[in-house]
Amino acid sequence: MSKLTKFHGIKSCVFDAYGTLFDVHSAVGKHRKRLGDKAEAVSITWRTKQLEYTWLRSLMDRYVDFWRVTGDGLDFALDAHGIEDAALRDDLMNAYLCLECYPEVAEVLRTLKDAGMRTAVLSNGSPRMLEAAVQSSGIGDHLDAVISVDEIGIYKPALEVYQQVLDRLDVGRAQVSFQSSNAWDAAAAATFGFRVAWCNRFGQAKERLPDAPDAEIKTLSELPAIVLE
Ligand code: LAC
Repeated sequence: MSKLTKFHGIKSCVFDAYGTLFDVHSAVGKHRKRLGDKAEAVSITWRTKQLEYTWLRSLMDRYVDFWRVTGDGLDFALDAHGIEDAALRDDLMNAYLCLECYPEVAEVLRTLKDAGMRTAVLSNGSPRMLEAAVQSSGIGDHLDAVISVDEIGIYKPALEVYQQVLDRLDVGRAQVSFQSSNAWDAAAAATFGFRVAWCNRFGQAKERLPDAPDAEIKTLSELPAIVLE
């Protein structure tokens, strides 16, 4: 069930990458057989620790790029689930460079671009990771900018991350529609002052954070109707 709202005066649509455009669980999905019945648990622990490490490192002022954090999260997950397999570790990391994008993504980006909207990615991902994922999913032609937190060395939800969009695209906060499947990312973008659509793909409960997204959608297919006049 999606609550649809209309956003007015939007000039740029900015997307979170992991979980929003790209399916982070498709990395483990590729090697599911080698992980057996631990596959799902490993994938969930991997993603959870990856995010926790971004928050913790930002609080501790100990930034390293997202490739390193992703590797640390995977090492924790494999260890926690009793798996010791260096070749599998390498294969899972490499799979992160060519994650599948969600089925509606290319079409939605094309529709937005055709209507004159500027489109961008704003992500924790390192430039190399983002470039690889964008290239392998073939959506590069539909994006005006791919913005990485690596330029400023702190992770979401630090508010200066969202400021990067204004500096790079030369737009005002109220002219940006920001989309994320990560509810905490959507909440922070709302705090920053973007119009925000939370892409709640998995029917998660609402966050209890200072600001709420303006719209809740189930997939990105619902976005053009919200942002196009
Ligand atoms: C990103 C993480 C939050 O792409 O998924 O920034």
